[in-house]
Formats: sequence, structure tokens, C-alpha cells
Amino acid sequence: MVMSPAWLAPSILSADFARLGEEVDAVCAAGADLIHFDVMDNHYVPNLTIGPSVCAALHKHGVKVPIDVHLMVSPVDRIVPDFAAAGATYISFHPEATGHIDRTIALIREHGCRPGLVFNPATPLNYLDYTLELIDLVLIMSVNPGFGGQQFIPTSLRKLRDARARIDAGGRAVRLEVDGGIKVDNIRAAAQAGADTFVAGSAIFDSGDYAATMREMRRAITSSS
Ligand code: DX5
Ligand code: ZN
Repeated sequence: MVMSPAWLAPSILSADFARLGEEVDAVCAAGADLIHFDVMDNHYVPNLTIGPSVCAALHKHGVKVPIDVHLMVSPVDRIVPDFAAAGATYISFHPEATGHIDRTIALIREHGCRPGLVFNPATPLNYLDYTLELIDLVLIMSVNPGFGGQQFIPTSLRKLRDARARIDAGGRAVRLEVDGGIKVDNIRAAAQAGADTFVAGSAIFDSGDYAATMREMRRAITSSS
């Protein structure tokens, strides 16, 4: 297994939205590699969050790391150009949420962003059969999407191993991201299963010291290699 350097992606879903710019500055200063931006529409998932105007505001504010947009919306295509214009680097979507997966991947690429596919806990990886060579990121959900602060679902580890095997066999640089219930005490297991990019919302933003929490996470990841 050829592993890329680990990236930590704090999810701003658990940040204090009244002070979002400061919160993003704080996790960047604490060592964030990406800012994970959860977009929910009260249709594909039963919750409603933030959209392109908030992404554009953060971009304008001067976020120092790439913005990793996780779309939990249906339909998908209508909103892709808006997030590209708003400064997104990665745009990931759930394959069940779009009518034409290949077309959506191409649309994200045409708009200068890096496409990713997201897999819910019970969604099979078969969607990668004819798409892995077209995308830059595979996101394995380790909770059902919609809310922060949920418990990690253990079968996600087997799915991470299966996704890692596919990525290694494909021979291209594709990030393997895990999202949901990631904490200091289980991040090592996710890393050992092949994840190289780790979303964490409540574990970071509900901790008193973002830098210390992210340092502990990195230490746990490194001790697994
Ligand atoms: C859930 C979101 C996650 C969420 C993770 O639908 O996709 O990114 O913010 O939150 P935690 O780390 O608290 O499980
Ligand atoms: Zn997410």
C-alpha cells in the first residue's frame, strides 16, 4: 500500500457559525490541511446547512488551505458551477443523488475543481467500476449523512480496506477520505484500514484546544504506519 501524507480536514459543521471566519483561521493555524464544507439541502438529507455564498465569503476572507466541499444535495449539477465560482477545490457528491454520474464528474472537472464520489454506509463501491480513473477523491461515510456528532459505524473499516485496494490497483493518486465519528481514539484504525484524509467535526470543534486535538490525531495516525 503506497500511502500519501495524512491530511486532517476539520468539518466546519461543528464550528461556531457566528464566528466562522475566526474558527476557520483557528483550525488552519492548528494545522488543518483542508476545510471540510458540508452542504445539506433538507431533501437528500434531513438537515439544512450552508451554500455557495458562505463558501465565497470564506474564500474572500482568505482561507489558507483548499476547501473540500461535500455536497449532500439532490439534484447535484445545478449547484456545481456556483461552488466552483465560490472557490471550492474539491467537490464531492453522492452517486445516488444525481441522474448521470459521469456527467456530474465531468461538470466538476470542466469547472476546474477536483471531483470526488461519496459512499454512504450501505452504498456499494461498484459505483467506482467505471469512475475511479476520473475522480481525485473517494469519501467513505462512517455515519449516515446529515448530522455531526454521530457514532462511527464499524463496518466502514472493511469498506475503507476495499476502497484502498481499488485505489492501489488503479495506480492513480486518489485521496481516500473518511467522514463521520472520527475521534482521537479511532483515527488510527481508519488509517490502518487505508484512509489518508480524515474529516473530524465535533472531535475538533468541541475540544478546548484545536491544536492539541489535531496533534494527538496526527500522532495516532503516524503510530499506525
Ligand atoms: C455528516 C457530515 C460530516 C460531519 C462529521 O453528514 O458529512 O462531515 O460534520 O461530523 P463528526 O466528525 O462530528 O461526526
Ligand atoms: Zn462531510
